[in-house]
Amino acid sequence: MKHFLEISQLNQFEIESLIQRALDFKAGKTIPSYPRQAVAALFYENSTRTRISFELAAGQLSMPFIDVNPETSSESKGETIQDTLLTLNTMGIGLFVVRHQQNNLPGMLAEELAHKDIHIINAGDGCHAHPSQALLDMITIIEQKPRLSELKVVIVGDILHSRVAGSLQMMFKTLGVAELKLVSPTIWQPEHVQFGSTSTNLSESLEGADVVICLRVQKERIAKSEHLDLQEYQKHYMLNNEHLKKARPDVMIMHPGPVNRGIEISAELVDSQQSFILKQVQNGVFARMAVFDALIQSNYN
Ligand code: CP
Repeated sequence: MKHFLEISQLNQFEIESLIQRALDFKAGKTIPSYPRQAVAALFYENSTRTRISFELAAGQLSMPFIDVNPETSSESKGETIQDTLLTLNTMGIGLFVVRHQQNNLPGMLAEELAHKDIHIINAGDGCHAHPSQALLDMITIIEQKPRLSELKVVIVGDILHSRVAGSLQMMFKTLGVAELKLVSPTIWQPEHVQFGSTSTNLSESLEGADVVICLRVQKERIAKSEHLDLQEYQKHYMLNNEHLKKARPDVMIMHPGPVNRGIEISAELVDSQQSFILKQVQNGVFARMAVFDALIQSNYN
C-alpha cells in the first residue's frame, strides 16, 4: 500500500490487517518508532478529530509532525499544492495527510507525484471519501459486534454528499456486513449506491438494527444552495428514543462528528450508554497509527 486514498483500493485482507494492527496498538503491543519518517498535514478544511488524531498517532510512533497551515504557507503567494509537496519532500518529509474540499484531490496528487518517494493519506476529500473515518468506525463496531455477517447497519443523513457514507459503503461491502440501510430525505438520496439500499423512512429502517450512524447535517450547505427545511428534517430524521424502540436493545449509536446536538441526534442520545461517539474518537488515534505503520512498512516490502 503506497497511498491511503479510499477504501475501494483495499481488499478484505488489507482492511482486516489494518484493523488488527490498530487493535494490537490499542492492546499495548509493541509500538514501532519511526523518528526518520516525517509527516506533514495539509488541511484546507477545518478539522478537530482527524487532524489532531493524526498528530497524536505520529507522536505515538515517534514521527516528526509538521502542521502546514495553507493560509500562512507560501501557497498564499501562488505556489501550487504539488510544488508545496515537492518542496517539503526534498526537506525529508515523505508522508502527507491531506484534507481538501475538491473530490479526488489526494488521488490526483498521488498520480502526479508517483515518481517520488511520497505517501499520500486522504483525510477527507469533498463528497468523495474519508477512509480513515470508515476504518475507525469499523474498529469501533468490531470491538462490540464482530459477527459482521449477521449485522444490520443504518446510516441516516445526507447520504448524497457524505464522504463518510461513501467510504462506509465500501467498507461494509468488502467485509461482508449483512445489511445496510441508507436513510435520508428524497433530496439527499443518491441515484446509485455502492452497497445497501435506500429509504426515506427512519423508523421502519431501524427495525432490528444493530448499529445506527447519524451523519452531520451540513448547515452551511443547506444555507447556500439546497431547499431543505431544518425543522422538517428534525421532525422526521433526528434520532431520538422513540425511533430506537424499533432497533435491537443493544443498538450502537455512532456519529463521525462534529455533532449538532438536537438536529441530527437528540442531546440525550449523544450522552447515553448506547453512544459510542467518544469511543470512535478514541479509536481514531489507533486507526491512524495503523495507517502510518502500514505505509512505512510498505517501503521495506
Ligand atoms: N469526523 C471528522 O472528520 O471530524 P473532523 O472534521 O473534526 O476531523
